[in-house]
Amino acid sequence: MRLWSSLLFCALLHLVQCDEQRIREERLLVVTVATKETDGFARFMRSAKHFNYTVKVLGRGEKWTGGDYMSAPGGGQKVRLLKAALDDMKDEDKIILFIDSFDVIFASGPKELLKKFQQARHKVVFSSESLIWPDRHLQDKHPHVREGNRFLGSGAFIGHLANIKEMVSDWTGEDDDSDQLFFTNIFTDPAKRKSINITIDSKCRLFQNLHGALDEVVLKFEDGRVRARNVLYDTLPVAVHGNGPTKLQVNYLGNYIPNTWTFETGCTVCEEGLRSLAALKESEYPLVMVGVFIQQPTPFVAVFFERLLKLQYPKNRLKLFISNQEAHHEPQVHAFLQDHGSLYQDVKLIGPEEQLKEAASRNLGFDMCRKDEDCDYFFSLDIEVVLKNENTLKILIEQNLPVVAPMITRVGRLWSNFWGALSADGYYARSEDYVDIVQGRRVGVWNVPYVSSVYLLRASLLRSDLPDVELFNAHNLDPDMAFCHNVRSKGIFMYVANTHSFGRILSTENYQMNHLHNDLWQIFENPVDWEERYIHENYSHILKDKLMETPCPDVYWFPVFSDVACNHIVEEMENFGEWSGGGNRDERIQGGYENVPTIDIHMNQVNYEKEWQKFLLEYIAPVTEKMFPGYYTRAQFDLAFVVRYKPDEQPALRPHHDASTFTINIALNQVGLDFQGGGCRFLRYDCSITSPRKGWALMHPGRLTHYHEGLPTTAGVRYIAVSFVDP
Ligand SMILES: *[C@@H]1O[C@H](CO)[C@@H](O)[C@H](O)[C@H]1NC(C)=O
Ligand SMILES: *[C@@H]1O[C@H](CO)[C@@H](O)[C@H](O)[C@H]1NC(C)=O
Ligand SMILES: *[C@@H]1O[C@H](CO)[C@@H](O)[C@H](O)[C@H]1NC(C)=O
Repeated sequence: MRLWSSLLFCALLHLVQCDEQRIREERLLVVTVATKETDGFARFMRSAKHFNYTVKVLGRGEKWTGGDYMSAPGGGQKVRLLKAALDDMKDEDKIILFIDSFDVIFASGPKELLKKFQQARHKVVFSSESLIWPDRHLQDKHPHVREGNRFLGSGAFIGHLANIKEMVSDWTGEDDDSDQLFFTNIFTDPAKRKSINITIDSKCRLFQNLHGALDEVVLKFEDGRVRARNVLYDTLPVAVHGNGPTKLQVNYLGNYIPNTWTFETGCTVCEEGLRSLAALKESEYPLVMVGVFIQQPTPFVAVFFERLLKLQYPKNRLKLFISNQEAHHEPQVHAFLQDHGSLYQDVKLIGPEEQLKEAASRNLGFDMCRKDEDCDYFFSLDIEVVLKNENTLKILIEQNLPVVAPMITRVGRLWSNFWGALSADGYYARSEDYVDIVQGRRVGVWNVPYVSSVYLLRASLLRSDLPDVELFNAHNLDPDMAFCHNVRSKGIFMYVANTHSFGRILSTENYQMNHLHNDLWQIFENPVDWEERYIHENYSHILKDKLMETPCPDVYWFPVFSDVACNHIVEEMENFGEWSGGGNRDERIQGGYENVPTIDIHMNQVNYEKEWQKFLLEYIAPVTEKMFPGYYTRAQFDLAFVVRYKPDEQPALRPHHDASTFTINIALNQVGLDFQGGGCRFLRYDCSITSPRKGWALMHPGRLTHYHEGLPTTAGVRYIAVSFVDP
């Protein structure tokens, strides 16, 4: 039925035309020139393969002499190669599509292309441009068009073999002459235009050149598929060309075209070319040089190294290059290397005494890998990166990409370690999909113009395309921007993956360096990391999983601090060392705040009162409000201090009331291990807690009912952290 009606339709229109509408796809041959298999070329071939185009590649392995392919003019070499290739083709039936490939992607298949070619009703159809180049004096010679672009673009044309042969037969130019000018001269010659039967695709039905047309092109999302659309002419171009300064935009479009991309599982490069590690023995794993860069004082450096140790990868296939430019962090670096350095195949440490600037230390690290022929990958990892995903390195290697970063973000911000787009002057610009990618609404592996902080680089690139030792220097750019600039300018693609949750980045602002355990002070600046480090792993279960214990009436007992938190607080206090708070101790006793004196150091003596208040508010107040319903606390405290009990100093505390609405008493070390005895007895109930647990808090009302005493510590040293809340 459909066949009959279409035949009838043809008969009514024009029989010949319908014959042509049936141009079989086998007649089409795509011809392109690629002297070098760049990432852009590989992408072109992927999109061609996806749509089942047959492609003939000219010039493979030939030296490119057609000028800098990043800038026009040039390109005569392409015409020479085309001419030679056409001479060998005898099948006059062929339709030739000659098209650039470094910066071109197909958005649809041969069928649509041929149909639109046929509808153009000419033997040769060129892509069109809104801007004229290289010779604007030829403007008046271009025929006027009723609607659309007036000028010819040589980046793509399609036509019958015979006509194209005729068109290039006069070529005698040099390789670095302009192909654009050559074809423009033919087109603007009325006689040749007529005899060869050439037109241009003014409304971008077949070809979209992006130069000068960025505002006209949008992405159209439909049924989980994407297509570029020219909104000025309401067309859906079959091939999109990022010519001139629009290379980045075509890279961006490449994330969506060809339309293998879907909203749910979007993955533009994952379908093929993956490198699997699964079948390898550990000894066969690629050798990775892990570059760790410490450029500024940073919190949680010890945690960083704990994570590095847990990275899932055979350590004898890892070499470490650590550049530490901060004397402040030398203890952590040395502790890590002393304890674990020998696990790695090799370790190179550049210390602060070398006084290397950031660019210099990165250049040095990359160069070590470049010169080490065993080095397969360089994994660059800045100290402020919190790599939560232990499989990150394996996942990145399996992507099999030149440069690929795991997406990391800053908690609660839109900051991430990639840029979706660049501004005209090479700085950050937000791409349309940036927020969706950062927030995980679009998931995939994305070609982007900038990555930083953590990324994997294929080491062979350092020996081929990126041999410059000064990779992190360019103009006056910051090292990270210089690196990306240099990579981009070689036509190498950088990707960011948000296919997994990889981790986050720390804030290095407001990092204090004047304490023993500076990380304790990070509760404001890096609250998530502070919690992971210092809050007990079962804290979050106390309410939901009934972990709360009630050892005595209205005395609640629950885990709150991690072991590390307890150790750090004790060490911090011992390091400070001024037990019993100096001169104001008598005032405190006389003022009635402390009914009985203890050997202690107050939080304000170590400048920890703001942080302690925040801790009480975040982690204690919610428990209080749950246990004493109807009571709301602002977690104000007058007194918060660490008490030390020692048999020969102060072993116990006589019965007393606390000057508080309620009291928090957190055990900071372990009975049996660090001390003997200790505990707390509530006299009114004749109830004792005699085996205090490290990191657990006792919470009880202060006045009236909970008259209590500190039981004697009989050996060792016991520490507790006490807070009188809402005094
Ligand atoms: C390409 O060809 C294969 C096999 O001939 C076919 O299964 C597939 O659907 C084609 N793809 C497109 C996009 O036409
Ligand atoms: C160009 O070729 C088409 C057929 O493809 C034909 O209909 C048209 O008349 C030709 N134009 C010229 C100027 O020869
Ligand atoms: C947390 O709770 C689990 C289950 O009760 C227990 O096995 C684990 O030891 C607890 N963690 C700590 C640090 O006490």
